[in-house]
Amino acid sequence: MQNPPSLGLIDQFHRKINYLRLSITDRCDFRCVYCMSDDMQFLPRDEVLSLEESLRLVKIFTSLGVTKLRVTGGEPLVRKNITWLFEGLSQIEDLKEIVLTTNGSQLAHHAHMLKTSRVKRINISLDSLDPILFKKITRTGDLDKVMLGINEAIKEGFSNLKLNTVLMKDVNDHEAIDLVNFAINKKMDISFIEEMPLGDIGHKRKDTFISNDEVLKKLQAHFNLIPTTFTSGGPARYWQIANQSTKIGFISPHSHNFCDTCNRVRVSSKGELFLCLGQEEKIELMPLLRQHLDDDWPIQKAILESMRIKPESHDFNLETNKPSVIRFMSHTGG
Ligand code: 5AD
Ligand code: SF4
Repeated sequence: MQNPPSLGLIDQFHRKINYLRLSITDRCDFRCVYCMSDDMQFLPRDEVLSLEESLRLVKIFTSLGVTKLRVTGGEPLVRKNITWLFEGLSQIEDLKEIVLTTNGSQLAHHAHMLKTSRVKRINISLDSLDPILFKKITRTGDLDKVMLGINEAIKEGFSNLKLNTVLMKDVNDHEAIDLVNFAINKKMDISFIEEMPLGDIGHKRKDTFISNDEVLKKLQAHFNLIPTTFTSGGPARYWQIANQSTKIGFISPHSHNFCDTCNRVRVSSKGELFLCLGQEEKIELMPLLRQHLDDDWPIQKAILESMRIKPESHDFNLETNKPSVIRFMSHTGG
């Protein structure tokens, strides 16, 4: 067994990679219209990394200098034995920051467990405050459950809660101001995400696209917004609402390229290492994990070598009307 070089993960554009986004399931109890088709096929169980394999992989990434982990999906909290995974993660000393992306549907059950597993930040998807529209967008979601989840997380003392909202023109864009007011009330942050062309879904992305610049203009007319240089280590640009704790983030893959400060890689629930959300290049880690049960070096080596193919930037195109990338967000992880 050899020891990996201590330099860690640095790609050919001199970006240091210290952030792993790990999808632990492609399944979800929602079918959001911008994310999934209504007849999604999910992976058979043996094609998904076991929780043991996921935990091992996180340890391998931390041995290469990764200090931040986002657990994502699909919907991570629908995975069986999720408590076991978070307990294991909380014991990895080199992991300085564990964060979670969730749709909130199961959050009420798990908020306490997440708090004791030293999860620092939870991002909760929320696209509407209207139960009927919420159901329409998520196809199967129950707004009441998500609200329970949000309230339970607040009760547990999470101060770093953030809402993620995908705005779609003539669908929910009229709720932008209400959603910000809701975030202010709950002392949460909120990020608006432009819809990304991932996976072939039922509608044409161009028809529902609304730029974050347009949303910002609308919000500026309503709130006193102060630009900040705050970063949560992600691609969002933040504005502070004057006299409130709430920040508004804008994640704009179309209007503002965020690739030059990219510090992350993603691993899908199948163990595919993706170097960029918007590109197809990947490294299959599952076979390596299963072949080398007692030796981490082949996996460390593959990850180190992958730095050579991390692309400089993504390449989303709304005009072609085709998804730039065939994978769904629920496959790669949000
Ligand atoms: N474009 C933009 N955001 C998406 N999400 C899922 N699919 C897409 C897409 N195609 C969002 C979810 C969640 C976050 C992790 O990603 O709503 O808030
Ligand atoms: Fe599930 Fe999130 Fe996709 Fe909605 S966006 S279907 S909640 S994975």
